[in-house]
Amino acid sequence: MVTIISISNGKSSITVFIIFCCILLHLPDIQAATPPNFSFDGFNLTQDGDSLEFIGSGTSIDNGALQITPDTTNNDPSLHNQFGRIMYKHPFNMWLSDEIQASFNSDFVINIFRNTAPAWNAGEGLAFLIAPDLSIPDASYGQWLGLTNAINDGKQTNRIVAIEFDTEKQDYDPNDNHIGLNINSVNSTATFSLDDYNIKLSPEVPANYRVWVHYNGTSKVMEVYMVKDGQPKPEKPLLSKTINLKEYVNQKSYFGFAASTGNPQIELNCVLKWSLEIDDLQKKSDLLWLKIGAGVGVPLVTLLILCGVLYLYKRKRRGGGGDEESKALGTQLRWLPGMPREFKYKDLKKATNNFHESMMLGQGGFGVVYKGILQDKDHKTSTEIAVKKFSRDIIQSKDDFLAELTIIHRLRHKHLVRLVGWCYEKGKLLLLYDFMLNGSLDKHLYEASNQNTLNWRRRYRILADVASALHYLHNEYDQKVVHRDLKASNILLDSDYNARLGDFGLARALDNERNSYAELGLAGVPGTMGYVALECFHTGRATPESDVYGFGAVVLEVICSRSPGISNIEEAVDERLGNDYVADEANKLLLLGLACSHPIASDRPQTQDIFQIKSGTMPVPNVPPFKPAFTWPSMVTAFSGRDITLASTTFSS
Ligand SMILES: *[C@@H]1O[C@H](CO)[C@@H](O)[C@H](O)[C@H]1NC(C)=O
Ligand SMILES: *[C@@H]1O[C@H](CO)[C@@H](O)[C@H](O)[C@H]1NC(C)=O
Ligand SMILES: *[C@@H]1O[C@H](CO)[C@@H](O)[C@H](O)[C@H]1NC(C)=O
Ligand SMILES: *[C@@H]1O[C@H](CO)[C@@H](O)[C@H](O)[C@H]1NC(C)=O
Repeated sequence: MVTIISISNGKSSITVFIIFCCILLHLPDIQAATPPNFSFDGFNLTQDGDSLEFIGSGTSIDNGALQITPDTTNNDPSLHNQFGRIMYKHPFNMWLSDEIQASFNSDFVINIFRNTAPAWNAGEGLAFLIAPDLSIPDASYGQWLGLTNAINDGKQTNRIVAIEFDTEKQDYDPNDNHIGLNINSVNSTATFSLDDYNIKLSPEVPANYRVWVHYNGTSKVMEVYMVKDGQPKPEKPLLSKTINLKEYVNQKSYFGFAASTGNPQIELNCVLKWSLEIDDLQKKSDLLWLKIGAGVGVPLVTLLILCGVLYLYKRKRRGGGGDEESKALGTQLRWLPGMPREFKYKDLKKATNNFHESMMLGQGGFGVVYKGILQDKDHKTSTEIAVKKFSRDIIQSKDDFLAELTIIHRLRHKHLVRLVGWCYEKGKLLLLYDFMLNGSLDKHLYEASNQNTLNWRRRYRILADVASALHYLHNEYDQKVVHRDLKASNILLDSDYNARLGDFGLARALDNERNSYAELGLAGVPGTMGYVALECFHTGRATPESDVYGFGAVVLEVICSRSPGISNIEEAVDERLGNDYVADEANKLLLLGLACSHPIASDRPQTQDIFQIKSGTMPVPNVPPFKPAFTWPSMVTAFSGRDITLASTTFSS
């Protein structure tokens, strides 16, 4: 250490860094050392034992193979009702989002052995397994295949996906010689009988079989190929099934094998070779550290110099390993089907006059929006765009960015702001949208400089446009999407005052409970006071009904030009309109706005009802004559196509 300090005398930060390197060197088992590939061409305990986890008392490496259940040909009870797992010790990153999932190929050779003298009754089976941890359920023998047990079978919390090689027929099995895709259960989601395919999993004359399991993270298709070892890989898979792995397995998961025997069904469950290639979704920057960690044998001084140089290099680049990571994420983004054009950061910098204040259009969720002017090559034409520059630091906003992208790049509707491009460079995230000439709705409602730009017809049409966008998100798109932050400043107006809904920074697809506010990792509820439905504060959950609440607030603002919170209806209509409004329409809209603001979520109109603004056939909602008593907790209904009968009433205050 003395030497170290004198080398770096006067540069305390380098000293700290070097000491950190030393600490790293003394922690050789630091987790991140995961290679993205591995290959075992036969197994040797001395060489391979450290990278594998043996779970269950009968597991071993024997005869150059993994023995998932005891390796003995004695026909003794030690082979009855056994179960075990052998897993690769390091986890892999399986996915980043629905869109970005790791593709993998695993290739292995198995041998399921049964004795002929005395003749064994073969059972129960072997499985290739993706699991959330390095444990095994209790009593997973017999039909449970080392995968589940009588208590947890079929539970979503198992987080396992497996390919079974099943040698014993249960009620739910086609026969005693099949493969199957198992999701959290030994009752397979898909099976293929090997009887007609000239394969006997547990033959009387021992045979090795080679298996390929492929998962395509883009198409989400899992395929299983199988032949007698030595034969070429067949053209067609035996089993092919579309499965969104992200729904079933943990982000960090382990690969390996599980197997079981029964009583009297017994067999030896052996894996002779195994390799895995998987897309590397790890942070590349971590790997840099690892390489340093791996060089334990290199003389210390060399290493320290390396560390120092590296540090200075990284410091110079600023954003550190972000560059590598950008590349990795950039590649993933390019894979997203239907992604719009990718832009270079330097071009956007130029287009926005170095992100100058004078080009600022506004501040949206997670970032600042600038106007940009893109010149074509010969400077003859230019295109105006809106550039949203994400403001939070890279790790945080990477998730926001992906969330926003995976949703919006697939949404297409004429009343949604169109995404036209993206850029991800050196840890800087930017999204490009169509430029909307007339800016956001709130400016027209509240800013003095925009007096009288919105006549009654325009106001009515804006609400109809927003209603149709909301209808698209909630009911017409193939996933239900909640906007989460519906408010006047997120409604943008083009040159003809057509409205488009923007800023999907908070939108998430409505499945798997992923629409939780809490998940965003923000303190409290993101969204804007006055627009966020009451129930969101205690359920922490955005729903189509909470979007309807936000819409109600917008309706009241558009009619009244006042922030949400005021509702003295007699003088409600914006005085700037004078007599320029249709009393019947105004009345209906005000009632609709109030109905949408109902504290009980289930009593709000449905998006389908709101949508009828467009055709002018909107029923008049039933608004209670008194402000409803505060309800706690308010009821959040499941989103359903439930019909609401809206009684026609005349309003009286
Ligand atoms: C993993 O395997 C793939 C395919 O063989 C190869 O392209 C990639 O470079 C390998 N990665 C490493 C780190 O060995
Ligand atoms: C396993 O590998 C070690 C070290 O390379 C070697 O000494 C040993 O003979 C091998 N064992 C077998 C069974 O091949
Ligand atoms: C197996 O799953 C199917 C549906 O996938 C179900 O119909 C059947 O009842 C299950 N069988 C058992 C024994 O759980
Ligand atoms: C994965 O699926 C995508 C989309 O169907 C396809 O374009 C791609 O070629 C597939 N990848 C492999 C390795 O088959």
